[in-house]
Amino acid sequence: MKAFQIIPSVAEYAEFCDFAKEVGLGQKDLVLTNEYIYHPTIAELNLGCQTLFQEQYGAGEPTDVMVDAILAELSGKDYERIIAVGGGTIIDIAKVLAVAERSDKVDDLYDKMSALKKVHPLMIVPTTCGTGSEVTNISIINRTTKGVKQGIVSPAMFADQAALIPGMLSSLPYGVYATSSIDAMIHAVESCLSPNACPLSEIFSEKALELILPCWKAAADSGEKDGWKKYKAEFLRASNYAGIAFGHAGCAAVHALSYPLGGVHHVPHGESNQVMFAPVMWKYLEKQPAGKINRFESLLAKILSCDEKSAIQELCALMDRVLERKPMRAYGVTEDELPKYADSVVGTQQRLLGNNYVPLSRDEILSIYESAF
Ligand SMILES: [Fe+2]
Repeated sequence: MKAFQIIPSVAEYAEFCDFAKEVGLGQKDLVLTNEYIYHPTIAELNLGCQTLFQEQYGAGEPTDVMVDAILAELSGKDYERIIAVGGGTIIDIAKVLAVAERSDKVDDLYDKMSALKKVHPLMIVPTTCGTGSEVTNISIINRTTKGVKQGIVSPAMFADQAALIPGMLSSLPYGVYATSSIDAMIHAVESCLSPNACPLSEIFSEKALELILPCWKAAADSGEKDGWKKYKAEFLRASNYAGIAFGHAGCAAVHALSYPLGGVHHVPHGESNQVMFAPVMWKYLEKQPAGKINRFESLLAKILSCDEKSAIQELCALMDRVLERKPMRAYGVTEDELPKYADSVVGTQQRLLGNNYVPLSRDEILSIYESAF
C-alpha cells in the first residue's frame, strides 16, 4: 500500500493581501487567473505581478488547444513562480504550465509524462470549495486532436504551496457553491469507502464530512441564499481535506458513472455526481450491507443526529436542500443511451472503479443508471 503524504504545504490566510505579503508576490511572479477574479481583489494591491487571463484563450474545461495557446503566449515571457488563482480549470492548466519547458506543447508533455520535472514553482489559491485540486498532482485535459479526455499525472505537478483564502469565495454564485460543495462531499464519501483508504486518509475524509454537513444544514436553515457564506472557511477547508483524502484513496463509482453525463450532456461536475450518488450508495448497500459502509453510516448518524439505518437517506435529503437532484432524463438522456454508458464506463473508467466499496459488474452499473434515469 502506498504511504500517505501531503505534498504541498497548506496555509490559511484571511484575505489575498495577507497571502501576497507573506510570500512576497512581485514582478517575477505570473498570476494565472480570470479577469473577474483579478478585479478588484488582486489588481488593487498593485503587486506588479505579470498576469494571464485564461478566458482569453478559450472557454470551459481545459483543452489542448487552450493550453497550447497559453504556452505559446508564455514562451516569450520571463517569470519564475506561477500563482494559480481560480477554480478547477485554472488549477489544472497551472499544474501543466509548471512542468512545461519553453518549447513544449501539450502533446510533448503526454509523451514524456514519466520524466516531467518542475520548471516553475507553483502556488495554488482555490476560489471554489469543491475540487481539492490544489493538493493533487493530476490535470485532466480534453485532447481535442485525439477525441479523449486524458489525465496528465506526475509527482512534479504537485504545488509547492496551497493557500486557502476564504475571502476569495465571497463572490461565488450560489450554484457554484452548491455543485462544488456537493463534489467535495462526494470526494469525502468515496475516499472514505475506498478499499485503498488508510487510517490517515480516513481522518481527512471524516473531518471533511464533519465540516460540510452541519454547515449545509445551518446554511439551508438560515433560509438565505447567501447563508452559506458565513461558513466559507469551513467549506474551503473541507474541500481541501477531501482532496487530501481522495489524493490518497481515490474516487470511485460515483465519479466514474457521472463521466458520460458530463462528457455527453455537459452537466457540471458536482451536479452530475449528485445524480449518481444515491443510486450508487443503494447498490452498495444491496450488495454488501455489512462492512465499511456501516462505519460511514454511524459517522453520518452522529453528525446528522439520526439513526444509522436512515443516515444515508438523511444525507441525500440534506443534499437535496442544497441543490434539488434531478433524474438523468431531465438532462436530455434517453433510455437507449444507458447500456452505452455502462459499456463506456467499464471500458474507460477502471482506474476509478478499482476504488469501489464493492466491485460492480457491467449489469449492476446499468441497473444503477436505470434507477437514476
Ligand atoms: Fe470530483
